[in-house]
Amino acid sequence: MITRLDKILGVKVLFDEENLAFQPLETTSGESWEKYLEDRPMQKGIWRSLKIAKEFINKEGSEKQYDFSQFWSAGKPIYYGIREFYNDSNILRLLRERKIRPDVTIIPGGVIGRELNRTEGHEHLSGLPEIYSVIHGKAGFFLFEFGDRPYEIKNEKFVVAEAGEHVLFPPRYAHITINLNLGMPLVITDLVSYDAKPDFNRVREMKGAGYSIVYHKGWAFGVEANKACRKVEGSDVIKPAREIRFSNGFVLKKGESLFDVPRREGGLEALGFLNSTSNGSIYENAYRGYLD
Ligand SMILES: [Fe+2]
Repeated sequence: MITRLDKILGVKVLFDEENLAFQPLETTSGESWEKYLEDRPMQKGIWRSLKIAKEFINKEGSEKQYDFSQFWSAGKPIYYGIREFYNDSNILRLLRERKIRPDVTIIPGGVIGRELNRTEGHEHLSGLPEIYSVIHGKAGFFLFEFGDRPYEIKNEKFVVAEAGEHVLFPPRYAHITINLNLGMPLVITDLVSYDAKPDFNRVREMKGAGYSIVYHKGWAFGVEANKACRKVEGSDVIKPAREIRFSNGFVLKKGESLFDVPRREGGLEALGFLNSTSNGSIYENAYRGYLD
């Protein structure tokens, strides 16, 4: 199926769901990247951060022989993205001046082992926040903070978001994105500081967040605790608020395009929070209860 993603994306694009091809219908900038399940010459495979890694690493911590041919994604990218994806060179220059980068990420539906397909997961060494929008499909975002002791995590939240919704990652929260729809690819966009400094090590060591989202026959999905983590007391399941109110009064509503924010009056100024680790008012009303 070919879908047009123009409205929420803010860029004219054809999306071929079957082949995961992302084809702009106007001039765009961007540099693509790919993540693979298995190790590559310049890249650690994301298997190391998934639940399946426990089967491939023995108690002493050394790696066993492993065979990835059993997984659907063997030899193919498990997900991919385009960095600095945008359709207006003037606005992109203004964003760069403010150290803000627009990205798109495409995550196919499926399972790796029993776990629903997801990103490798990382924290920002800078502690800087990030903002995501769901463009197509249904996403789950694990957001959590690390405690003082190794393998300790706290304040975990699970945000469930559908197309048109915007999800704020507060300062110092590590994050993992899950495609909650087995039969549909997930397309998300984000704005993030060039100074964020993503780091994958701690999430990789824990093989994910405090919980994993796993496939259950007859159920959409189930939740399993990650025994490698310490001190996780349940994970609040929440939804994004219907609108995000920035500190300068700028409002981004559900269904409006994140990529249109810097084009709108007050939008560039509103995005200044991406280069601050302060806990401002923007985070206080960014979520609502799942059943609200
Ligand atoms: Fe990030």
